[in-house]
Amino acid sequence: MIKLNDEIIVTTEKLTSSGEAIARLGEEKLVVFIKNALCNEKLKIKIIHINKRFLKGEIIEIIEPSKYRIKPFCNIYNACGSCNFQMCGYDYQIEQKNIILNELFKDITNNIKPIIKSPKTANWRHKVQFPVRETKVSKRVIIGYFKENSHDITDVKFCPLQPKIINEITEFIRKNYIYGCYNEKNKKGLLKNILFRISNSTNDILLTFVLNIKEEDFKSKINNNFTGFSDKLKSEFKNIKGIFVNFNNENTNKILGDVTLKISGEDFIEESLKDKKYKIGSTSFFQVNPESAVNLFDIVKENIKENSTILDAYGGVGAIGIYVSDKAKLITLVEENKNATLCAKENFKINNVKSYEILTGDAKEQFLKFKNENKRFDYVILDPPRSGCDLKSGGLDIISSLARNIIYVSCNPMTLKRDSEYLLENGFNIKSISGVDLFPHTFHIECVAVFERK
Ligand SMILES: C[S@@+](CC[C@H](N)C(=O)[O-])C[C@H]1O[C@@H](n2cnc3c(N)ncnc32)[C@H](O)[C@@H]1O
Repeated sequence: MIKLNDEIIVTTEKLTSSGEAIARLGEEKLVVFIKNALCNEKLKIKIIHINKRFLKGEIIEIIEPSKYRIKPFCNIYNACGSCNFQMCGYDYQIEQKNIILNELFKDITNNIKPIIKSPKTANWRHKVQFPVRETKVSKRVIIGYFKENSHDITDVKFCPLQPKIINEITEFIRKNYIYGCYNEKNKKGLLKNILFRISNSTNDILLTFVLNIKEEDFKSKINNNFTGFSDKLKSEFKNIKGIFVNFNNENTNKILGDVTLKISGEDFIEESLKDKKYKIGSTSFFQVNPESAVNLFDIVKENIKENSTILDAYGGVGAIGIYVSDKAKLITLVEENKNATLCAKENFKINNVKSYEILTGDAKEQFLKFKNENKRFDYVILDPPRSGCDLKSGGLDIISSLARNIIYVSCNPMTLKRDSEYLLENGFNIKSISGVDLFPHTFHIECVAVFERK
């Protein structure tokens, strides 16, 4: 009988989409998930979690490493909980991601295309969100990522995955910011997070400070300090085009509050993907790896016929809709974030898209309206958040009844599998699944699944 804290020797079999390796224990072949392990490694592990269906183990010693195991290139790999697939080379990462995709989808299609590699494997992350805290006594500012399974921050002085200028600005804030940082224990202190959005094509930056304060208190008490600090930042770093504050004094895991205020500079930065241009706001979603996003969007475009009616659901600032607009008779974009739909409006204009409509609101509610209006779409592009487009909150049943073809873009293969099974049981065939590596050195896999009505 295995107990918590038992130390056991195992040999790993394969990796899963959650980024853990699987080993099996004893005659019952109990599954144990192990973080930071590769396939075919002999490990000494400690059991850290037991439930009825599986166990979790933590590596104590690597007895026989995989021949693909290498020294992670990042100095703070062990301390930082961010990109945890660095213990093997990029080619092996892609090979493993291909195996994971094939394993997951082989029951529903034999047309699983090989993952397209990211053009850049360093400096690819163009959106960065760092929590900010300070040390207890000396009040030294700490900016970085949460350590794995913890709310302690690793001070990230250099991250090789983001453009270098972000490291420089972060260091400047670390040294010069003096208005207090958030303390999770007593819920006091001002600065909770900083957010960077940087354009790959212009290197322009929008910087947002997320503050633990109400808007009215900010305006009456500290606005002037912040304006002074943002002037300093802008004169030091010419790439910073706009500075914002976001108010979030709620005690939740949500990073952003509902209200964002510009305190200096421009509202938008501009990004280009091939011949398309996009204005991106401080809090609106845009693909974090723009050069790889081009490969993703090309797959979507290849699968659309000329002169089609297209719904870009979960459309953000219109990134995919505009990218495929040359093939559209009419594009309808649905997105709940107002800041994003404001950008989308601009983006349709600057790209000379003639025939489009933008609907701000919840996707499922909008799908219901389409149903009541008897609308039909030649193509529905679905690009939901990680939770997918399930029946309950996402309205997949409603929108699939109005679509002739569905192109499902997903950053979570597990929810894509769940939603694919629903579509296959409800009138659709699957034509292909393609993977694109948007997130090198992490376990995340982005895929596109193409469905057509039977
Ligand atoms: C993965 S992003 C995709 C954005 C866009 N397709 C792109 O490639 O830039 C998902 C988008 O869905 C939006 N979203 C999340 N939940 C939503 C909902 N219930 N209704 C409408 N939009 C939603 C988010 O604000 C975000 O812009």
